[in-house]
Amino acid sequence: MSDSATPGGLPGDAGEGTRAVRAGLPEPVKYEPTLPGPVFAAHYHLPGEPTGPYTYGRDENPTWTRLERAIGGLEAPGRDDVETLAFASGMAAISALLFSQLRAGDTVVLPSDGYQALPLVSAQLEAYGIGVRTAPTGGDAQLDALDGARLLWIESPSNPGLDVCDIRRLVEAAHARGALVAVDNTLATPLGQRPLELGADFSVASGTKQLTGHGDVLLGYVSGRAGEPMTAVRRWRKIVGAIPGPMEAWLAHRSIATLQLRVDRQAASALAVAEALRGRPEVTGLRYPGLRDDPAHEVAVRQMRRFGCVVSFTLPTRARAERFLEALRLVDDATSFGGVRSTAERRGRWGGDAVPEGFVRLSVGAEDPEDLVADVLRALGESAP
Ligand SMILES: Cc1ncc(COP(=O)(O)O)c(C=O)c1O
Repeated sequence: MSDSATPGGLPGDAGEGTRAVRAGLPEPVKYEPTLPGPVFAAHYHLPGEPTGPYTYGRDENPTWTRLERAIGGLEAPGRDDVETLAFASGMAAISALLFSQLRAGDTVVLPSDGYQALPLVSAQLEAYGIGVRTAPTGGDAQLDALDGARLLWIESPSNPGLDVCDIRRLVEAAHARGALVAVDNTLATPLGQRPLELGADFSVASGTKQLTGHGDVLLGYVSGRAGEPMTAVRRWRKIVGAIPGPMEAWLAHRSIATLQLRVDRQAASALAVAEALRGRPEVTGLRYPGLRDDPAHEVAVRQMRRFGCVVSFTLPTRARAERFLEALRLVDDATSFGGVRSTAERRGRWGGDAVPEGFVRLSVGAEDPEDLVADVLRALGESAP
């Protein structure tokens, strides 16, 4: 295979749209497709010594290789010392990172307001003798929990509260204490923020959300500087076997070509929706890091280039939020976020987040922004008691 990280003479100063469109493509080969199809293989022809790159399907696959190069090229443009590993889901990637780096007796600092499966991970870490401390994302509160920690886990912006912390500041404090830093980059995507450039050791994400953006693929990844920590992550993937299917990896790669189009459109529409919600008396706790008066805006502009597609806010009661969700016509009542079709949900229905009963997480899709704003305002009106 003649794959190359910077195919077809892609200029070093190419813009993000250009990079996304060409991310991870192999050098052109006459009569071959631009993006070769998924390679379905449990094993490869392997006469003689069993050396790579492709030996057994749980260890490597050419479709993953291309996807990993694509993601790595966006997370760390121009760096060839960064390795990316694809996983079956975001949780597979998160667990691989945490369980491969931490040992009994270590301490990890997690966000107290992060993705709702983190407490499950936390319980499992504690069962293995790993100490867990938690602190909120906002106000860089994790700083106060760092002494003696082996790893700091940041989720910025946090899901679902959309708080933002100063990643560079936290990284410096953690490194000064000898701790590694991982950032969950799911909400921002690599076009919204590049944690490795902010000094983090790992960027970890669910590719299920906006990275792939069509609500039809589960995927995760870890990016980090090649070396022992990433070798341990790779070993974890091999022993746990939490690998992506070739079809999912290929769909993800195909979707990355439109990443810049989607994140730009969805961020612009999310801002329009947030601005429309700001004037409404029944809406409280409105959060969108791109809003100029959002509490996180100042730190967000320092480290993010795009502010994502998720807006969160609270309606007065659970019943009001339920009526609002039911009245929406262009926004599906569904969990997850980042897709081209708008979704929203009353987050309290899961019971895992410390949010009010009327809290709504709205993921803004690629519909026309005027249509979405009109739908949201109409549904607010119709849901009034
Ligand atoms: C911030 C964040 N990280 C990780 C995950 C887990 O990803 P997955 O559902 O792909 O396992 C999610 C899922 O919603 C998430 O929102």
